[in-house]
Amino acid sequence: MPFLSAALDRVKPSATIAVTDKARALKAAGRNVIGLGAGEPDFDTPANIKLAAIQAIEAGKTKYTDVTGIPELKEAIIAKFQRENGLVYKPNQVIVSTGGKQVLYNALVATLNPGDEVIVPAPYWVSYPEMVALAGGEPVSVVCPADTGFKLKPEDLEKAITPKTKWIILNSPSNPTGAAYTRAELKALTDVLVKHPHVWVMTDDMYEHLVYDDFQFTTPAQIEPRLLDRTLTVNGVSKAYCMTGWRIGYAGGPASLIKAMATIQSQSTSNPCSIAQWASVEALNGPQEFIPANNKAFKERRDLVVSMLNQAKGIDCPRPEGAFYVYPSCAGTIGKTTPSGKLLGNDEDFVTELLESEGVAVVHGSAFGLGPAFRISYATKTSDLEDACKRIQRFCGNLR
Ligand SMILES: Cc1ncc(COP(=O)(O)O)c(C=O)c1O
Repeated sequence: MPFLSAALDRVKPSATIAVTDKARALKAAGRNVIGLGAGEPDFDTPANIKLAAIQAIEAGKTKYTDVTGIPELKEAIIAKFQRENGLVYKPNQVIVSTGGKQVLYNALVATLNPGDEVIVPAPYWVSYPEMVALAGGEPVSVVCPADTGFKLKPEDLEKAITPKTKWIILNSPSNPTGAAYTRAELKALTDVLVKHPHVWVMTDDMYEHLVYDDFQFTTPAQIEPRLLDRTLTVNGVSKAYCMTGWRIGYAGGPASLIKAMATIQSQSTSNPCSIAQWASVEALNGPQEFIPANNKAFKERRDLVVSMLNQAKGIDCPRPEGAFYVYPSCAGTIGKTTPSGKLLGNDEDFVTELLESEGVAVVHGSAFGLGPAFRISYATKTSDLEDACKRIQRFCGNLR
């Protein structure tokens, strides 16, 4: 349609949102559907955080704020980076935006010129390549298969770097695989990156707090201080603090980059919601005890789902280090036929037929750049997970 921008030809709508919408529509039509597509904790926002928002409203903190965030939240972010990551930032090196999503998008819009390449290890969060393309850059996907733990190997990183590479996007723990880099694995990558001073590092640490079995989270600038002046360390309150709807994300990085991102934000959305900012001050500065309590539940669910999926015929499910996703292969089901006569030609057929016949909504792996596989979000109540895994076992068992 001539009215629409050519930029739209470069982007696809989100597959994860599409699955969630389809599951919702089937539910509304009276079907018994279990949705395992959405990437958000089922736990409610903690009461102290909600109270901080209520108090902010009552105190009239309802006006525009500084574009890059209220000073109190920036101080809380600076303290968090120092306390948890050993990273030292000044207020002009921090920005608060409407979700981590806007942080990432601002950074790409502020830096990419046509032809600039961004290395995106696959499987990747669906938005990375689309945001890069929208910002006029070229996403360069590097496939990281299950037998490397879905992690980028230093030699593959080295091969992917060209004179046009502007950024590499790292995401650990990962959406969609849950894979997280150990300190040694990350060090092997930062050793490559120090040799290529034109490559900047965008690290998406959104799932930092969601790690299990004593896994120690680390972030690139913490491991390799020589990368600090070309690293954007992105984080947010959505996942660990159960605040997806509040829309607060933030980043620390070089002042010149943060200033450029602030310029983009000042001419598009201005400050993120003032009330959500005050709630986030409480999230970062307040009690943190609910995080290990939630993680205990997530770990139990992960173990349940991995074990039950590995009992399904044709499914192979690795046990990831973190986040709330598993990324099983369904290679053993491809080429088989459902009782109704549908041939499963790829993972998209697998998830479509699974939803049709058993009412379980999951997202196909090819949407994340590596199939045949699918992503399950286990941020759902345990009884539903158990039921969903039984349905997947039955679906796979009925294939011929
Ligand atoms: C890897 C990753 N990064 C960033 C985000 C965006 O988070 P938000 O915009 O809610 O802060 C998400 C949300 O699903 C994610 O999975």
